[in-house]
Amino acid sequence: MKTDLAATARALNAPAPAIDPHSLRKVLGSFVTGVTVITTIDKNGKAYGLTANSFSSVSLDPPLILWSQSLTAPSYPVFRDALRFAVNILADDQIDISRRFAGSSDDKFTGVAMRAGIGGLPLIEGCAAYLECASEDRFPGGDHAVFLGRVEKIEHSNRSSLIFGGGKYLTAQPYELKKTSPNI
Ligand SMILES: Cc1cc2nc3c(=O)[nH]c(=O)nc-3n(C[C@H](O)[C@H](O)[C@H](O)COP(=O)(O)O)c2cc1C
Repeated sequence: MKTDLAATARALNAPAPAIDPHSLRKVLGSFVTGVTVITTIDKNGKAYGLTANSFSSVSLDPPLILWSQSLTAPSYPVFRDALRFAVNILADDQIDISRRFAGSSDDKFTGVAMRAGIGGLPLIEGCAAYLECASEDRFPGGDHAVFLGRVEKIEHSNRSSLIFGGGKYLTAQPYELKKTSPNI
């Protein structure tokens, strides 16, 4: 088949139709994620934390992860200036923690069982796993900033992770292959 390269280039250059933000949210919600609370402290030792599902692994060697934060989040200036942050990967019995850290209250940490990680990083007790990170880089990402973290310390438990998809909290079930099916 002969390809008209010039026509292909013209087609790829065509303006894309506008994307409806409501539909975009719905489509992005089809990508099911875990739930984290990202925490840090400011220069006075005050703890900050927010619920985030934008967390993703990036690289094993060197060990790098990323997450993104809305530029309008009240805690953004603190994370922008922080040298370190912790990723608390929530367990499936921590929906209340997720809800609490998704709000903008000034006393999110009151009554939450905590312990200190590297340099006093706030770690939430009872999580499925933890990554303590040095803030390696920050990139512009539209109305968000993308934080790249270099993993300095990890911890893992046998708790199941909380899951979020389609705007709802979910729990994971192992997928059992149907051994009786002739197609498998
Ligand atoms: C499941 C879930 C995931 C979220 N993920 C993010 C995220 O990745 N980035 C972000 O900036 N906000 C995210 N949010 C919203 C923040 O948690 C929320 O805006 C929070 O109030 C910000 O904290 P702050 O007000 O102390 O700055 C998420 C909320 C929920 C419920």
